[in-house]
Amino acid sequence: MRWYPIPEITDAGKPFIRKVKAGGRTLCLVGYEGKVYALSARCPHAGGDLTQGWCKDGKLICPVHRYSFSLETGKGSEGQGDYIDSYPVEIRDGVVYVGITSFWEKVKQAFK
Ligand code: FES
Repeated sequence: MRWYPIPEITDAGKPFIRKVKAGGRTLCLVGYEGKVYALSARCPHAGGDLTQGWCKDGKLICPVHRYSFSLETGKGSEGQGDYIDSYPVEIRDGVVYVGITSFWEKVKQAFK
């Protein structure tokens, strides 16, 4: 896994939803109740832009058809049968870092 700094996020303690690029992926970074979450930015239902959504009760809501996903795990709400990728986040000296495992790293891990 490689850690990518996200300098666009300057105050991780405040609520926010931002689209950022890291490790060749487009991510939805969310500041919610003092924590930072990194999720994929594309809704698996019909491709909605999750960075245009909002948060409620610990979930990220898609603005298109209002499917919702856990901020902690990316798991879709009951009945949806879907998920979005979630990525580990660390804050070091006030800078947000997102951990991304490349496709080839995942393949290597599968054969260990
Ligand atoms: S595109 Fe996100 S809920 Fe339909």
